[in-house]
Amino acid sequence: MAVLASGRGSNLQALLDAISAGTLDAGVVGVFSDRVGAPALARARAVGISAHALSPRDYPSRDAFDAALFDAVDTVAPDLIICAGYMRLLGAAVVAPRSARMINIHPSLLPDFKGLRTHRQALAAGASRHGASVHFVTAALDGGPVISQVPVPVLPGDDETSLSARVLEREHPLLVETVRLLAQRRISLGDDGVLLDGRSLAGPLQLAANNRFA
Ligand code: GAR
Repeated sequence: MAVLASGRGSNLQALLDAISAGTLDAGVVGVFSDRVGAPALARARAVGISAHALSPRDYPSRDAFDAALFDAVDTVAPDLIICAGYMRLLGAAVVAPRSARMINIHPSLLPDFKGLRTHRQALAAGASRHGASVHFVTAALDGGPVISQVPVPVLPGDDETSLSARVLEREHPLLVETVRLLAQRRISLGDDGVLLDGRSLAGPLQLAANNRFA
């Protein structure tokens, strides 16, 4: 896997921890960021994984930045590309050829609350349920076919901080369990959406409290 991350890197860490614990049969071959100081880069280097940052301001356009980023990604020849807290829009030119092997984790129950500040959006909408989704990446912002979700309750008195912490705690097993299915080649992207074991999914897989898909 190649992992794209812009910041903290706790989702990357969840993958690294599962790999080092021997519970996820996969490997991270490179970590890539649009922020030179992203803590995610240090998490990768700490375990000997190559980590690269490119600065968008060094490129004349978004497309030029994306092209350089994916040139770097291609050098590690990943089977899967995981956007784990990668906060820049990706253009169709780099996404389209890779949609079937690129996923993103997003902190909402898609299609609700696309874009940024999803916890704030959920609170403002008075939602009683929030959560996270993993989806294939297409050129539509947070709009690719959804593979899996985990619901999280919104509790009385929640603010952005408490709600985002409750969601993040569930993002980690959601990402690990979804990557496990992809690594086992049980999940794929078909013409009409997500396939599990070659059959269309009726809806996103739901991660239960025991960290298994219901
Ligand atoms: C996570 O909550 C992830 O779902 C979100 O950024 C956070 C990154 O945390 N991603 C997005 O909002 C993408 N639109 P992390 O760096 O600790 O993994």
